[in-house]
Amino acid sequence: MLNLWYKNAVLYCLDVDSFRDSDGDGVGDFRGLADSLDHIEALGATCIWLLPFYPSPNRDNGYDITDYYNVDPRYGTLGDFVEFMQAAQDRGLRVIVDLVVNHTSIDHPWFQASRAGDPKYKDWYVWSKDKPADAESGIVFPGVQKTTWTRDAKRGEYYFHRFYKHQADLNIDNPAVREEIERIMGFWLALGVSGFRIDAVPFLIEGLTEADGSRDPHRYLSEMRQFLAWRKAEAILLAEANIPMDEADDYFGSGDRMNLIFNFPLNQRLFLSLARREAEPVKSMLKSLPDIAHVGQWATFLRNHDEIDLGRLNDEERQEVFAAFGPEKSMQLYDRGIRRRLAPMLGGDRNRLANAFALMLALPGTPVIWSGDEIGMGDNLELKERDAVRTPMQWTAGESGGFSSAARTDLVRLPPANGPYAPLHVNAESQRMVDGALLTTVEHLIRIRRACREIGWGDYEVLDLEAPSVVGLRCRWRGGEVVTLHNLSEHPATVDLTGVVEPDKVRHLIGQETDFAEDGARCVMRLGAYGFDWMRVTG
Ligand code: NOJ
Repeated sequence: MLNLWYKNAVLYCLDVDSFRDSDGDGVGDFRGLADSLDHIEALGATCIWLLPFYPSPNRDNGYDITDYYNVDPRYGTLGDFVEFMQAAQDRGLRVIVDLVVNHTSIDHPWFQASRAGDPKYKDWYVWSKDKPADAESGIVFPGVQKTTWTRDAKRGEYYFHRFYKHQADLNIDNPAVREEIERIMGFWLALGVSGFRIDAVPFLIEGLTEADGSRDPHRYLSEMRQFLAWRKAEAILLAEANIPMDEADDYFGSGDRMNLIFNFPLNQRLFLSLARREAEPVKSMLKSLPDIAHVGQWATFLRNHDEIDLGRLNDEERQEVFAAFGPEKSMQLYDRGIRRRLAPMLGGDRNRLANAFALMLALPGTPVIWSGDEIGMGDNLELKERDAVRTPMQWTAGESGGFSSAARTDLVRLPPANGPYAPLHVNAESQRMVDGALLTTVEHLIRIRRACREIGWGDYEVLDLEAPSVVGLRCRWRGGEVVTLHNLSEHPATVDLTGVVEPDKVRHLIGQETDFAEDGARCVMRLGAYGFDWMRVTG
């Protein structure tokens, strides 16, 4: 019997180094995290996704690993990890971890052995005697990264790195490397994790060839999933794969590959809709999502620990989103994205933020929340590249936001020092017990969402409403039906629901001063500025 727990899960993504520091060294750790799980439990999230916490020189926030079988000493020990896992399990929280096996740090002993020509490791990375002609194409971090092939003086050859030059790509064509990847997955599964967020999946598989020399790189995704099925059937694979929709089938397979894939195209259309305050970009995207195998599911999100990637919008659309949410050059990144958190982009407007969260929770898929966004934290544009959105969790009004007892200047990354998003103004403690605060609102929304299995499990239909600023969805599952409406505009909107629902046959689950009005034979509903309404059809 398949366990599809992830279809109605709510994921909460956090970085151990910036969540809670228990020993006052300015860096978050597993003990601090274990002591702070009440926050995540109260929020209503059901699964934690941990960003990389393995030993690393930290040149790419831990996505440059030097040991896959350990915890970076700055965050604690493996023992602390197990204690944290126990604390999470005690609260019914699942944990998934980042699996970063497209590349390792060049400081990894495997790479060091490979460049020295050690027979065991010499083919663990992608080497070339000459610099390939396409070395300057396919750069992921334009403006920061210059090439994808760098010469290693010791070996006298070039090594391939899809990302920064300190992240050498593993040679996935080598069976020994694939075996090692299984060993890594097996290790963390044995410590109790419920699966993996796989980093950079399209790049991970890009070099794969079959034993007979033919190419079907996606087959490897079935192999990974099979391994999981043998070791821990309920464990999941969540793919970081910014792919066009016509490739979705290759990644989901017939339900035998990835369980979840981040819906990057939908995320970009969502921001276009928010920028225009118009439903159309989201609606047309939802209408064009391909049918996927029932066990597969999209992962939906507002923001994450990277920039918002707007690369799938056309130039004009991208400029519209830049103009609305990242007008200054310092807010933009890699010629394609915005390095800001959600709250400042939406002007700190609590109603607009609640609307965005509600909409994200109403979309077909499994919602993923980036830690700190639930309290409306701001960014720090003085930090480099994507670090701007990775500031420490703001627990209290203190100078260091209650994240650490260390002085502000000793913190792993600096929270905004002043202005409306400084810990003094934005922190979990001041919102925790306050009705209508963003935190308690998001908590409430998550509770309702979890009770609406129609959204997580069922089929959806995009309602053709005339109001241009309203996204209307109807989800059905096992005879149940939920209708959701979200007004993206700062102006009230009137929605004609004649033939969609009957006023005396619905129960409002959440709504903002909304109600039906009779208008002749028509049944209309008025949504306030950024208003939203969720209704269960009672029949
Ligand atoms: C995607 C991660 O989300 C990002 O933070 C990282 O820099 C790259 N993959 C490379 O690992």
